Amino acid sequence: MRKPVVVVGSLNLDLVVNPERAPAAGETVFASRLDQFPGGKGANQAVAAARLSAPVAMVGRVGQDGFGDRLLESLRADGVGTEGVSRSATAGTGTAVITVDATGQNRIVVVAGANAEVTPELVEAHGPLIASASALLLQLEVPVAACVRAAELAAAAGVPVILDPAPAPAEPLPVQLRKNTWLITPNETEAATLTGLPVEGRRGAEEAARTLAEQGWRQVLIKLGGNGAYLYRGGEGRWYDAFEVPVVDTTAAGDAFAGGLAAALHRGMALEEAVRWGMAAGALAVTRPGAQPAMGTLAELTTLLRTGRLEG
Ligand code: RIB
Repeated sequence: MRKPVVVVGSLNLDLVVNPERAPAAGETVFASRLDQFPGGKGANQAVAAARLSAPVAMVGRVGQDGFGDRLLESLRADGVGTEGVSRSATAGTGTAVITVDATGQNRIVVVAGANAEVTPELVEAHGPLIASASALLLQLEVPVAACVRAAELAAAAGVPVILDPAPAPAEPLPVQLRKNTWLITPNETEAATLTGLPVEGRRGAEEAARTLAEQGWRQVLIKLGGNGAYLYRGGEGRWYDAFEVPVVDTTAAGDAFAGGLAAALHRGMALEEAVRWGMAAGALAVTRPGAQPAMGTLAELTTLLRTGRLEG
């Protein structure tokens, strides 16, 4: 049995509108479309890794409603194991309201719903699954205490823990989580929140990465979208250039990155090479609308890595 990528995290039904530009405070704008897509940072990461042929198992929680049914069906359609996704008797399925403007930039508001019921105890019940993983993917749309416990269980079993600190909390993340995380992967906004520094351009990212290392994060990867990514570990930094692709919708690009990285680690690749997989997976995701529907296949990723283009 191949070791699965295990994701502990959120599942949301995304309600997506497409105004030309996002409204300012007090302003009303028109959009021409309202779409519903399966989303949630955790579930998106799971689908991203599964599309790249990794065996994936998800741990999370949805409500006993139609949104929950749809999210479970869509995970199963991508081959993601859903035995670890339980259903709340009281809370509704997590929902995200998303605007995507004409430049493809997104703004997201999440109602956590059943995601808020992912407790350390719920995670604990899946301890053997987590300990059997090739990698554990975490994000912060479920309670931090659950992530702390999942990371502890994984680290104790020698499983690499990859934390996407999204959304980044204003208060510092627990020392225990820092200790057990193998790699933290913030974007610019999240790096700024975690460090208190303005993360602008490559210089800013380098300074933020050093600061995160001083905070106790062992390996740091800062994602700058079209400006590339910066890997910092052991006092050494390395820049990766972004793939040049047309941007339709940036939603879930970071989730695609995590899925791509985990799929590569699952294949036994070293971190340096796995980052390229993450970047290619992220690039593919921005070329299409929606979260899970936008995740690329192994064939698409291989072409992008080989040629630098979407088509070979
Ligand atoms: O990262 C994108 C995701 O953030 C969306 O799918 C939405 O559900 C929110 O969780």
